[in-house]
Amino acid sequence: MSLANGRPYLAIPGPSVVPDRVLNAMHRAAPNIYEGPLHDMTRGVIADLKTVAGTSGNVAIYIVNGHGAWEAANANLFSRGDKALVLATGRFGIGWAASAERMGVSVDVLDFGKSSPVDLDRVEAALRADAAHRIKAVLVTHVDTASSVKADIPALRALMEAVGHPALLAVDAIAAMGCDEMRMDDWGVDVLVAASQKGLMTPPGLGFVWFSERAKDRCRGGDLCTPYWDWLPRAEGTEFWQLFCGTAPTHHLFGLAEALTMILREEGLPSVWARHATLARAVWAAFDAWGAGNPQIALNVADPAFRGHSVTAARLGAPHATALRRWTEAEAGVTLGIGLGMAEPADPAYHGFLRVAHMGHVNAHMTLGALAVMEAGMKALGVPHGAGALEAAAKVIAGV
Ligand SMILES: Cc1ncc(COP(=O)(O)O)c(C=O)c1O
Repeated sequence: MSLANGRPYLAIPGPSVVPDRVLNAMHRAAPNIYEGPLHDMTRGVIADLKTVAGTSGNVAIYIVNGHGAWEAANANLFSRGDKALVLATGRFGIGWAASAERMGVSVDVLDFGKSSPVDLDRVEAALRADAAHRIKAVLVTHVDTASSVKADIPALRALMEAVGHPALLAVDAIAAMGCDEMRMDDWGVDVLVAASQKGLMTPPGLGFVWFSERAKDRCRGGDLCTPYWDWLPRAEGTEFWQLFCGTAPTHHLFGLAEALTMILREEGLPSVWARHATLARAVWAAFDAWGAGNPQIALNVADPAFRGHSVTAARLGAPHATALRRWTEAEAGVTLGIGLGMAEPADPAYHGFLRVAHMGHVNAHMTLGALAVMEAGMKALGVPHGAGALEAAAKVIAGV
């Protein structure tokens, strides 16, 4: 007998839960791609994408995953030999650096480890040392999904201004878009990268690169900018096919349009951010309570100010995390995220890490349900844990 039967909950940090109405919006015949409703809807999607990012600038849509969106950003941002300063707070910061390096960009990585935020003093030192201003762009991950470390983007921009360094600021918001607050123009972000399968509640397959006028002007004519990656025709093309450099991703656009309506016109972006912040705090409260009874259980990021609101990385001590993940999926219908980049899969320590996602189409009962299932699993597996975790999480949800 298994208690997993019923609607399963995918609590992994992407692909996230796709709302039925998004799937329903995609379940339709292929449209006329030459004129008519698809063109009107796409114009609406482009306007909505600018709103969700907080920009009046430009956006290019690509048929890619997040790795492809990195490459699209790199191909437009840099020419071979240009210099990038990458601020890494986990696996994905390192990944973006490797992608740029493979494309011929000269990359300096400031690695802050797997559980610490960006150290602005080290960034300041690196920028001041670059007196010739060879660094063309600073690349940072808003929320690194592997570590759940969140970067303070306004503080980073303020530092770059204070130092007087002209570098562009490029942000990977793949795990944060539609979950954590983002104000691209207000925060002085020049290039912003995201993808469809997380906070934007649409199946994997679309990537987005927003870019400022400053980035547009500074990045014209780069030698990495091949036709398919070129963001200019995608953002400014007068013919519909130019927006996608060929055939449009029709059914993904229908789904995305529905998701953006849910975020912007029904719930409202500030409420979406607030919901994610509250669900994240409920998860943190539970882990703090569990950890009070077992020092092996702890959140990966100590300071709440630097924790993402869409995913929580934690350790339970090996082999408990993997055992718990297997138990919650097989016995209770909840799939939790693997620990990513915290230890190599061959290392026994790998089985001490997991992640709980709370991104996109996720509400209080799904989050409290996941926490309750985790507690049941700890009891079933004999993993020592502190009491009162669900009480603590429920208090956060209740706002008391
Ligand atoms: C922050 C971040 N950047 C980049 C990626 C890579 O995206 P994808 O797996 O879609 O290629 C991910 C995926 O999880 C991510 O979370």
